[in-house]
Amino acid sequence: MFVEAIEGAWQDSSTLGRRFVVKSGQQIDVLQNSNISGVFINTALGHNITGSASPSGAKNISTATKEDKLETAGKIRGQAAVAKGLIQDVCEGRTITVEAFTPLVDDVARAMEDNPSLYIGMSRLRSRDSATFVHSLAVAALMLHFGRSIQMDDETIQHLCMAGILHDIGKLSIPKEILQKQGPLTVAERSLIEQHPDRGHQLLLAHTGMPKLVLDICRSHHERLDGKGYPDRMSAENIGTEVRMSTICDVFDALTSARPYKKGWSSQQALSWMLCREEQFDKTLLWQFVLSLDPEMTKGIL
Ligand SMILES: [Fe+2]
Repeated sequence: MFVEAIEGAWQDSSTLGRRFVVKSGQQIDVLQNSNISGVFINTALGHNITGSASPSGAKNISTATKEDKLETAGKIRGQAAVAKGLIQDVCEGRTITVEAFTPLVDDVARAMEDNPSLYIGMSRLRSRDSATFVHSLAVAALMLHFGRSIQMDDETIQHLCMAGILHDIGKLSIPKEILQKQGPLTVAERSLIEQHPDRGHQLLLAHTGMPKLVLDICRSHHERLDGKGYPDRMSAENIGTEVRMSTICDVFDALTSARPYKKGWSSQQALSWMLCREEQFDKTLLWQFVLSLDPEMTKGIL
């Protein structure tokens, strides 16, 4: 069995590396007992032995062929390109309606029905150039999935998805060198980055008919329940459910994504970290989010 890639916290220092042929049951035990969230088995280079014939019963390991992975990557790139076009239209002041987002929202909804972990798996593979657009798309997909899982109505779900696509639009006016800086930020740089919700909100306000929920999420997705968020240091009672959901989806995607300066965390690591921060996130909503995810992604938490 040939392991093409590993998702999650896998030690590169492991003697196995990240791409290798599995030759023994002992090696499958090492995989099962590690903190990884999944492996991708390239069936073109060997048999998949993770089923019942596995010497150590490694059937809990999720599998996808290289072809599946490439098809998924293509789908995400296509959707990110559509999201980029919509975001640029808004940035450049072209008239845009809620209906303009419908085909992309429908496409994301279909993809989430086929494979709910699609965007989470791909978020670690994003390139630096498309990072903002893929992040926006991933947050949109998570918001849609989250909204559906708690039976929100269709219009709210559509607006949640649209908000996911547009929430970081203010970042496009901040220099890339600062957004992608690998070392610590100066006070001035931090302050500039913290302007992105307000800048985005101003940009969206210029569009008549922009749903209130989209405006609120754009402005307030970095607010915290303890009042230490930005830009308005809102207190918990003023932060609505949809904004609280956006914070959860945004931080979850940020933590599980690879960045130029860090590897992505596994879903389990990210959720465990978030569950310890009641002062920051709505705990009831966070548990609802956990329950909405694929059990493979929450193993060890539930
Ligand atoms: Fe943001």
